[in-house]
Amino acid sequence: MDVIVMPTAAAAAKLTAQIIADAINAKPNFKLGLATGRTMEPVYANLAKLNKANKVDFSRVTTFNLDEYVWPKKAKKYEANKDSYRYYMNYHLFNKINIDIRNTNVPDGSCDDVDAAAIEYDNAIAECGGLDIQLLGIGRSGHIGFNEPLSSFSSRTRAVTLTQTTYGQNSPLFDNPEDMPMQAVTMGVGTILEAKRLVFLATMKEKADIVAKAIEGPVTSMISATAMQMHEDVVCILDKDAASKLEGLKEYEWSFKHNPRWAAYQKFK
Ligand code: GLP
Repeated sequence: MDVIVMPTAAAAAKLTAQIIADAINAKPNFKLGLATGRTMEPVYANLAKLNKANKVDFSRVTTFNLDEYVWPKKAKKYEANKDSYRYYMNYHLFNKINIDIRNTNVPDGSCDDVDAAAIEYDNAIAECGGLDIQLLGIGRSGHIGFNEPLSSFSSRTRAVTLTQTTYGQNSPLFDNPEDMPMQAVTMGVGTILEAKRLVFLATMKEKADIVAKAIEGPVTSMISATAMQMHEDVVCILDKDAASKLEGLKEYEWSFKHNPRWAAYQKFK
């Protein structure tokens, strides 16, 4: 695992976007796993900017999002449902880049058989050859995707019940907080670990404790983000604040500076 600490949240998002853009440029039919949340908004703004400047081409890229809420039948269709992750993705990224919208996938949380659709989602990822990069954020409960505490490390895409912590974290983002569903569909920890590379981004002081546990703490299904420690190709990009509780901070800074893999990215510091 590599840990890169940037001076600001804006710089961390810019570096994250650049790493993704460089990977797409090296493999145009890229399979990209995406995440939602406030942390990712500046990443998507940077990717849109790079696309506009012809510095990355999404025309052959296929995307799979980590998760979506399970919507009650009376909920509005995704296109109009501003609280849905499909809406978030269209708004923050897909409508701003040259991607074919038919190549964008978000788990279906509004169909009659959410469980069957979840299995199909996993199959679709496998059929296209697997994800080249999975972008990850972290929730206060330590979740990646919506894999709440005690999610099995071999779990697949499935419906889950959200914790109170996550309800507290995400409901303020809803127009009407009481509209937040208690269930979601998420890629499983096992599904996520199958991606060829994990790119993890966390910023802000409020994430410092959970980030330290995720990166340096014992591997435990109580904190699904600790599963990243079992993956062979992970980069964790943090801002100073989110990195502030890491014990090995100085060593990570040293490694970033001297690891040839990151030579081209020193200028982002
Ligand atoms: C949601 C998503 C997670 C994301 C988390 C972080 O819960 N399901 O995938 O990592 O939000 O959100 P934020 O970036 O707003 O802190």
